[in-house]
Amino acid sequence: MLLEAKGLSVRYGDVVAVHGVDISVTEGELVSIIGANGAGKTSILRALMGLEASTSESLLYRGEDISSLPPHLRADRGIRMVPERSRIFPNLTVYENLRMGCYKKTGNFSQQLEKMYALFPILAERSAQWGMTLSGGEQQQLAIARALVSEPRLLLVDEVSMGLMPKLVSEVFDVLKSLNRETGLTILLVEQSALLSLEISTRAYVLETGEIVLEGPARQLQDDERVQAAYLGM
Ligand SMILES: Nc1ncnc2c1ncn2[C@@H]1O[C@H](COP(=O)(O)OP(=O)(O)O)[C@@H](O)[C@H]1O
Ligand SMILES: [Mg+2]
Repeated sequence: MLLEAKGLSVRYGDVVAVHGVDISVTEGELVSIIGANGAGKTSILRALMGLEASTSESLLYRGEDISSLPPHLRADRGIRMVPERSRIFPNLTVYENLRMGCYKKTGNFSQQLEKMYALFPILAERSAQWGMTLSGGEQQQLAIARALVSEPRLLLVDEVSMGLMPKLVSEVFDVLKSLNRETGLTILLVEQSALLSLEISTRAYVLETGEIVLEGPARQLQDDERVQAAYLGM
């Protein structure tokens, strides 16, 4: 088990956004958490990264209790997050944004950079441009590449599909799928758009108002009547 959260809860004052969810991710899986706007998806990812205060019965990463580690120490252990709405550095160039993703390791940055430019050729073309001048789709690719340059073991991805044209969404999802299937990268992604995320996932959770209401292999959820009615528009 790479990541195992038991009874994870997130509260904002009196508002309980996440009610004691159990989420686990095994090495090599691509797991998605699907749920509507406000279901608590971002809160879960931020809690796993250590960016949001949370409580849990246990929060283990590679068997180690990480519940009291600050975000940068979780990052050091190989957890990285692609935040909602990409949140790249607007006043840095594409190259500088990627450099920031690799702030600790210096040895193999140029090798990683080449990999990222091969994976996202548009970023190579735009390497000297400021982040703010990129289109939404390009910013999303940059946000993913910035998380990948540090060679994470577990990538947390927050709604990459948001605000992208359908064609770009499937391109970005294809990249995530091939990272998982071809390089073995473990990914936990959260999405409103269930159709595409279930396509690329090995396993999924359905989150409703802070609680997991269904879970199972992605194929099985795609065939589930409740999922079809609520999320797949059938
Ligand atoms: N910083 C915050 N302060 C207060 N309430 C918040 C905060 N962030 C999120 N919430 C609330 O928590 C719930 C879950 O939000 P969020 O995790 O962002 O859901 P999702 O990512 O699924 O849209 C929502 O009701 C939202 O309004
Ligand atoms: Mg969100």
